[in-house]
Amino acid sequence: LQTLPPIQLADKYFQIFPEERDPLWQNPCHDKRHKDIWSKEKTCDRLPRFLVIGPQKTGTTALHSFLSLHPAITSSFPSLVTFEEIQFFSGPNYNNGIDWYMDFFPFPSNVSTDFMFEKSANYFDTEVAPKRAAALLSRAKILAVLINPADRAYSWYQHQRAHQDPMAVNHTFQEVVTAGPATPRELLILQRRCLKPGAYATHLERWLHHYQPSQVHIVDGSQLRSHPALVMEGIQRFLGVTPIFNYTQALTYDESKGFWCQRVEGARPKCLGKSKGRKYSDMTPESRAFLTEHYREHNMELLRLLNRLGQPLPAWLREELQSSS
Ligand code: A3P
Repeated sequence: LQTLPPIQLADKYFQIFPEERDPLWQNPCHDKRHKDIWSKEKTCDRLPRFLVIGPQKTGTTALHSFLSLHPAITSSFPSLVTFEEIQFFSGPNYNNGIDWYMDFFPFPSNVSTDFMFEKSANYFDTEVAPKRAAALLSRAKILAVLINPADRAYSWYQHQRAHQDPMAVNHTFQEVVTAGPATPRELLILQRRCLKPGAYATHLERWLHHYQPSQVHIVDGSQLRSHPALVMEGIQRFLGVTPIFNYTQALTYDESKGFWCQRVEGARPKCLGKSKGRKYSDMTPESRAFLTEHYREHNMELLRLLNRLGQPLPAWLREELQSSS
């Protein structure tokens, strides 16, 4: 039997098992052998019971803030680095390990009633995220918020303009979405970030490869925007959180913001910041027509997927398919 000093031994090991270079963190409490060798100081209760996976620009911040109002629901602590979101399953943070992840969650005060969650909107369309999430959180529930993918693409474009992305500042939305392969790389990157997350069915199928249909709930983002109390009731039923919190009392429509906000007794409502619910001109009919065509087959796939799952169709999907038929 031969051995080597630790670093050479590790090098040798990964030469033999290259596929293990990328770790896949599993829940130590799901395997007795792992639990037995894990520190007694640690607990698996500092992990979320559900995830809001995105995609970006569909109303995920509003959903996060509404969920946080619920007395039995607790959000992760904000990350100072990644725009408040933890973004663990989607990028390099994953290499920080599960202790790093668990530090974003408080010790639950009452394990059976506390619903901890985190929202990272780029999980939705990140290839590795569902596999990683399911390895650690196999029993978690998954919430995805969907709006018309054309509006999502436009909102992302406006978001990039507001952040002074030169491609978004110097090109119209129409130029971005219709750019052909011979255009600068940066423009194609922006185009991809506008368009790719909107292929909803493709991304959802990846999540459904790792999670049971009963664990996945599709939130109609347009309805969340117009009738949040109703949507929040559906979400609470899906999560099985009790008692049902009455969002009709907790939320109020703010005329100047043009969105639903948190009602505050004797004070102005607490709305999301300027970067959520931006004011910008309507999408041109030309771009809308182009995107309706672009997403037609993706939306048809989403229709088939939702029918298969027995989940209701968002109103925007019905309208979009009617207008494109
Ligand atoms: P716009 O700023 O383009 O209007 P996310 O939080 O996932 O990035 O989504 C941002 C979008 O949430 C906003 O996009 C806005 O339309 C939508 N939204 C839905 N409900 C909202 C609310 N109550 N307050 C602010 N924005 C809301």
